[in-house]
Amino acid sequence: MTTTDRRGFMKMLGGCALVAGAIPLIPASVGAARSDFRSGLRIESPVAGIDPALGHILHYASLAPSGHNSQPWYVRLIDDRKMIIGADPDRRLPAVDPDNREAMLSLGAFVENLSLAAGDMGYEAQIEVKARSPREQEILEVTLRKANPAPYPLKRMTLRMTAKHGYRSVELEKYDVDALAEPLGGRLFYFPPGSEHARCIEEGTVEAFRGQTDRDEAQQELVKWLRLSHEAEEEHRDGLTTAGMEIRGLKGWYVRNLTRPKDFMKKSMRKMSVEQTAKLAGQGGGWFVITSPGESVADLIDAGRGFERMALMARERGIALHPMTQILEEEIGRAGIASSHDAGMIPQFVLRVGYLDPYPDPVSPRRPVNWFLRT
Ligand SMILES: Cc1cc2nc3c(=O)[nH]c(=O)nc-3n(C[C@H](O)[C@H](O)[C@H](O)COP(=O)(O)O)c2cc1C
Repeated sequence: MTTTDRRGFMKMLGGCALVAGAIPLIPASVGAARSDFRSGLRIESPVAGIDPALGHILHYASLAPSGHNSQPWYVRLIDDRKMIIGADPDRRLPAVDPDNREAMLSLGAFVENLSLAAGDMGYEAQIEVKARSPREQEILEVTLRKANPAPYPLKRMTLRMTAKHGYRSVELEKYDVDALAEPLGGRLFYFPPGSEHARCIEEGTVEAFRGQTDRDEAQQELVKWLRLSHEAEEEHRDGLTTAGMEIRGLKGWYVRNLTRPKDFMKKSMRKMSVEQTAKLAGQGGGWFVITSPGESVADLIDAGRGFERMALMARERGIALHPMTQILEEEIGRAGIASSHDAGMIPQFVLRVGYLDPYPDPVSPRRPVNWFLRT
């Protein structure tokens, strides 16, 4: 990194990097219930016309997280044991994810759940990356082969969620960080609260969020994925719901019944969401950054898989993880990162972390398997 680059970067992010080449890192490895949702997130197997085991496996896969809960996946069955996992062009987020980077991360999380659920049910999932670019539609080919069961607590998938409020502002215990870092093989970095890096990530995140909220096309895209009323939630079973955004109580009732998605275009609403984000960004036990060695489809799928594997372990440790992605989406964040990081240190996830008690139950809806199945 040149001095000029560094100076430019420091200006942008207040003088530090997410994962820095020149600045020392702290590698972690070393150093409203969903049942309340009326249509429910129940296991809707057997899915008509397909093998019951496959129906179950795909249901667990669909519990994966995704940006805006867009659930960018579809599954094209070749036969009962072979399928293509694709990125649905109608579920892209062009304003915030023009390169489909986050869609690939979400597909990675989907396929991680798929692989773990298959293992538990006595199948080995052989996964081959087919696509050469994240913009292609058919991304992965998965073949299930009979194997000795690899038991996995599937409840972790039904209980994983993105909780955002109420994080305790205390540093994570080293044994927790080490355990969560384990599936990421040295690609997870922890920045505890009070550290210079944590401060910089917090500031950069709020700045990028503000920039994104000012950008009409990004805000319009958000509006498109809002499902504020129960009716909208049931109709689409995707997107950002009132409960999923943790808007509860009287406020929740108001938003559900008297607010329209397009109200989120108003200046006052945008201002409120920036204030809310700034408040959240200042709470918690610091930040995790997950990097990848490159930006190929395989790198992105791997990063998504590692993230999901970690996220599945977090709840039983009472730890919440909140992806705050705007710093990787907005020019102001991306330019800074590009100019200050060594090759092989590409941040793919920026996550606020923290202990949470009580830990709420998942509320985000999912589309049933037959909605994303193409036979
Ligand atoms: C690649 C990716 C990016 C995400 N970015 C954000 C984000 O910037 N802000 C946020 O609040 N949640 C973010 N999320 C979390 C999703 O909104 C969440 O997974 C989705 O709404 C489903 O909810 P659940 O995780 O509780 O099942 C992201 C998730 C993924 C996988």
